Order: sequence, then structure tokens, then C-alpha cells
Amino acid sequence: MSSQSKSRRKFIANSAKGAIAASIGLSAAGSFIASAANAKTVTTHLVFTNFDQQPLPYKYDALENVIDAMTMEIHYGKHAAAYAKNVKEAAAAEMVDVTRPIEEVLAKISKYSAKMRNNGGGHYNHELFWQCMRAKTTDNKPSGKLAAAIDKTFTSFAEFKKQFATAGATRFGSGWAWLYADKDNNLKIGSTPNQDNPLMDISDIKGMPLLALDVWEHAYYLKYQNKRADYIENWWNVVNWDFVQQRFEKL
Ligand SMILES: [Fe+2]
Repeated sequence: MSSQSKSRRKFIANSAKGAIAASIGLSAAGSFIASAANAKTVTTHLVFTNFDQQPLPYKYDALENVIDAMTMEIHYGKHAAAYAKNVKEAAAAEMVDVTRPIEEVLAKISKYSAKMRNNGGGHYNHELFWQCMRAKTTDNKPSGKLAAAIDKTFTSFAEFKKQFATAGATRFGSGWAWLYADKDNNLKIGSTPNQDNPLMDISDIKGMPLLALDVWEHAYYLKYQNKRADYIENWWNVVNWDFVQQRFEKL
């Protein structure tokens, strides 16, 4: 590649960074953006989220016996698929360019319809949620810089889990629990109602989501019925800390 061509690729990448940083409204967002030269071609969940539902990164039964296969099949194939379908309908009606990352819409969600808010959030949140999980492992916990940051912020991993579980358990009705980074890259725990998330300009908590937990009943009811706390307690065994760590290191 010529030096001129390299310069052009770098310029395009930096332009994309700036556009996303501005739209998300986070100083951290610029550096969070991957080195991809053109946002329109990026589909990785680590950085940009596509409007299309992506393949589940594991089989429906991969999270047994924490989340049962039937729950996963219905959750991914029906609930999340519907959010993906409906957000594209909303995007078509509201003249949104679906070749752009959905994060751009979420950052300005107050300017769009309730259909866009509910389904755009629903789509983004689930795409992130699938990536935040992997097959059950024993002694599952973060490592490296993320582990150090969690210890520093919350005093210990056990205390972090306790606070995060409380955020999920006390969310009234349907919603999400989050580990996210605020505009100064400080780790925070919070929850949002319905399909809202910390990227949205209407959200009480704002920042870059790092770890997402779905506490809608559709996420756990077949196996856990009304015992949301048991679902959360078991869920720690399938958290994909490598993925969360990668997102953290992109801040
Ligand atoms: Fe869900």
C-alpha cells in the first residue's frame, strides 16, 4: 500500500472515530472505536453494532445448565429477532441509514419514535448480551486490568458482584443491569428500564456499556420462574470476561 493510500485510510478511520464520538457524546468513545478504516463495513460487536441480527456465537444449549436451550432458542429466535425486524422497520420509516452503526441512533434516541427506542434498544442490548456470555466455566472471573479496575472501584470482585446483582434484582418490572464506563472512564453499575441503555440520551445513567444482563422475565422464566436472584447468581458462571475485558481495553 502506498503512503498516500495509508494516509487516506487513517484519515477515514479518524473521521469515523470523530463522528461516533460526537454522536455518542463521550470523550472515551473516540478511542473506543476500532482501527477499522470504514464504519460501514464493520460488524464486530466489540465496537459497532449492525442493525441486522448477527448469528448467535454458540449453540442454544451452550449455556446449559445456567440458561436452558429452550429459553435461548425463544429468546434469540423470537424476542431478539423481533427487535431486529422492528428496528429496521422504524429505521425505514424514519429515514435512518442502516449501514451506519446503531449506536449513532441510540445517542440521539430522544429525536426518534417510541418504536425506535424500544426496538433499537432491544436489538443493541441483546446483541451485546449474547457476546457477554460463553459456556460455563468454574472459578469464572475477570483478570488483568479489568480485574484491577473492578477491585479499585468496588473494593473487591465479590462486592462488585453483590452490587451488580442488586441492580438487576431490584429493577422493577423489565430491564437491564449494566457495568459501564462513564465519560471519564470510571466503572459504574446501574440499571435501565425496558430496553433503554446507557448509550441513550434519555437515560439516567450514561456511558459505554461493558457488561449487560437481561432481567426481563423472558430471559429466565422457564427455568427460574419468579426467582430472578437465582438466575443472576448462576449467570456469573457464563459471563464472558474475555469479551468484557476487550471492551474495557478499548476505552
Ligand atoms: Fe431479552
